[in-house]
Amino acid sequence: MDTKHLLEIMTFDEKVGQLLQIAPFFFIKHADVEIAGEVKDLGLSRKNIFHAGSVLGIGSAEEMMQVQELYMKNHRLGIPLIFMADIIHGYETIFPVPIALASSFNPELVKQASRTSAVEASTAGIHVTFAPMADLVRDPRWGRVVESFGEDPYVNEVMVQASVEGFQAGDLKDERTLASCVKHFAGYGASEAGRDYNTVDLSRIQLHNGYLNGYKKAIEAGAKMVMTSFNVVEGIPATVNRYLLREVLRDLYQFKGVTISDYDSLHQILNHGCAEDDKEAAERGIMGGLDIEMASTCYIKHLKELVDEGVVDMKLIDEACLRVLDLKNDLGLFDNPYRGANPTEANRLVMSKEHLEQSLKAAYESLILLENKDILPLNKQVKVALIGPHATYDMTNGPWSWRGNQAHNTSLYDELKAFGVDVIHVNDQVDVSSYNEHDFKIIREADVVILALGEHVRESGEAHSKASLRLPRHQDDLFHMIKQHAKKIVTIVTAGRPLILNDVKESDALIYSWFLGTKHALAIVHTLFGLNHPSGKCPMSFPMHEGQVPLYYNHLNTGRPYQPQGHNEFTSYYLDMPNEPLYTFGEGLTYTKFMYGDLHVSKTEMIPQDTLDITIDITNVGEYTGHETVMLFIRDRVAAISRPVMELKKWQKIQLNPNESKTVQFRLTAIDLGYYDQEGKTVIEPGWFDIMVGPHAKDTQKQSFKFIKG
Ligand code: BGC
Repeated sequence: MDTKHLLEIMTFDEKVGQLLQIAPFFFIKHADVEIAGEVKDLGLSRKNIFHAGSVLGIGSAEEMMQVQELYMKNHRLGIPLIFMADIIHGYETIFPVPIALASSFNPELVKQASRTSAVEASTAGIHVTFAPMADLVRDPRWGRVVESFGEDPYVNEVMVQASVEGFQAGDLKDERTLASCVKHFAGYGASEAGRDYNTVDLSRIQLHNGYLNGYKKAIEAGAKMVMTSFNVVEGIPATVNRYLLREVLRDLYQFKGVTISDYDSLHQILNHGCAEDDKEAAERGIMGGLDIEMASTCYIKHLKELVDEGVVDMKLIDEACLRVLDLKNDLGLFDNPYRGANPTEANRLVMSKEHLEQSLKAAYESLILLENKDILPLNKQVKVALIGPHATYDMTNGPWSWRGNQAHNTSLYDELKAFGVDVIHVNDQVDVSSYNEHDFKIIREADVVILALGEHVRESGEAHSKASLRLPRHQDDLFHMIKQHAKKIVTIVTAGRPLILNDVKESDALIYSWFLGTKHALAIVHTLFGLNHPSGKCPMSFPMHEGQVPLYYNHLNTGRPYQPQGHNEFTSYYLDMPNEPLYTFGEGLTYTKFMYGDLHVSKTEMIPQDTLDITIDITNVGEYTGHETVMLFIRDRVAAISRPVMELKKWQKIQLNPNESKTVQFRLTAIDLGYYDQEGKTVIEPGWFDIMVGPHAKDTQKQSFKFIKG
């Protein structure tokens, strides 16, 4: 399709229509779809509706085809609609939530999860997914950490890239792909006090060296769209923020794709106090660099007047409209407006055996073993007492799985029984007074108590921030009571964010499971009994207290650094609490043990053309086969700006059999030593750098080298 020619023959209304996204129930009343936020009467005329360029959410192939057919019959030029939806960690087959996938430190799993999600969702005629979320997070109170890849900018970059590659698979003409819309641009994860939608105030140095990296990587990986965020940045709502949308996105990152607001976020700039009315919002949006408006109607109602009054240049509308038409063209919609929608293929592909197996494998690798006092894996002959709010719970898909099919979800109890374990389900209650003498007898007689604790599925996700990070509803009290009676206690915590685990740390074994999707319970049971060996590691720091957050390993030094073991008067510390988290970034055990040899660095001086090789031998000295994720951090000792005390630059996940050794090799080049200045330009300064290699941020060996500018 010659989209430039098409643009020439479009009327003004048809052009502005392309910049409007509405829900499918404007076309069919019974649409089977869940929409984020409030559904309001947008006051759209029939004409507006049949000009709208895209649809948010659709329930099935049949619905999509019905809407598209109706729409095209009513559109003068027959320009097809584009269907967008939130396909975050699965369509019907649900994979672990993104924070769980990040724990696997295996980008191939992220890619696979996105690939399979695209295959399934595309059969319903969905063309664009609002994923991945590339927001860096450092505050577990924010409910959306569950949708993130955690606190580290590099992990975020790697996982975001894998996700975009999985969704788009390099060829959008292939109808089993989805175009990726990275979100929420920008800085949404830094909302003050961890409260969703709240103010964000980041310096440009912070933005470029942490918060923007994930979106940048998504764009480099070819993401076709960028969604703006709800928050302000430098006092200006991101949805109309010229610096972000024009200077960073278009000029610096050379992004050629489509921008879209978040749900109603253009209209919401009135609440931010940044527009008098919808007309001013429309003006600020189009001038700022926003193409599509999701779920509000400032453009459709006011752009005409703004152009007639000479306030807005028609060129801006043409450019935005052309970008939308080009996206439709890239997706092949002009050749096949029903792209992807296919009920027969949906039956064949959705929830296929292969997809369910992939979901199980991803769940295996996402589990984090935090404690193990030689109790796991369990022997199948043990007598188990199962207790706690997650014992019979099967809502394990986690937030943003609106289409998730529950038919295959099971509970721990179901899976323990099916596995042939001698298990008694004692009680789901948290309230300690609901346990009686009979319950205590069972607990005392059991070889092991499995205590299944955690958050309900609706305790994390969008608009689900929390001030308290303790295990909800006094679950710690339940733990203490059970511990008094149990011979051994294995605690499993299912949650959407890092919670405070100070008490349950005293369990004989502690597993952090997140929401693992369709195969959640099976993955846990297989892990408990050694059919899977856990290998996940913490992608975020687990605080000891809410007062410590934001808490992250890659912080800057202060002028008065804290001494973990020393005297701290007049240093940066708390009177009542250590500075460190309970579990730091990268912590996580396996069933085996690894021994690290000495760290070798190929040079002590490096010039820009050089590469630096870093090697370390790892040996499995335990009894089980296991995976180890080896992490390499650097520290730029002196620079024009203060640099983090350590920052992850590379990692490798290797598998070793008992007694097996491997040499892990990393290579650094000059670019790995750089940082971004306030304009987002790379700076590499000469001087001393430390290299730290080890299993996690608190356990590394160090070597140093000097970088010399040739
Ligand atoms: C969320 C986005 C989502 C959009 C559309 C919003 O409320 O913030 O992440 O993509 O709704 O469902």
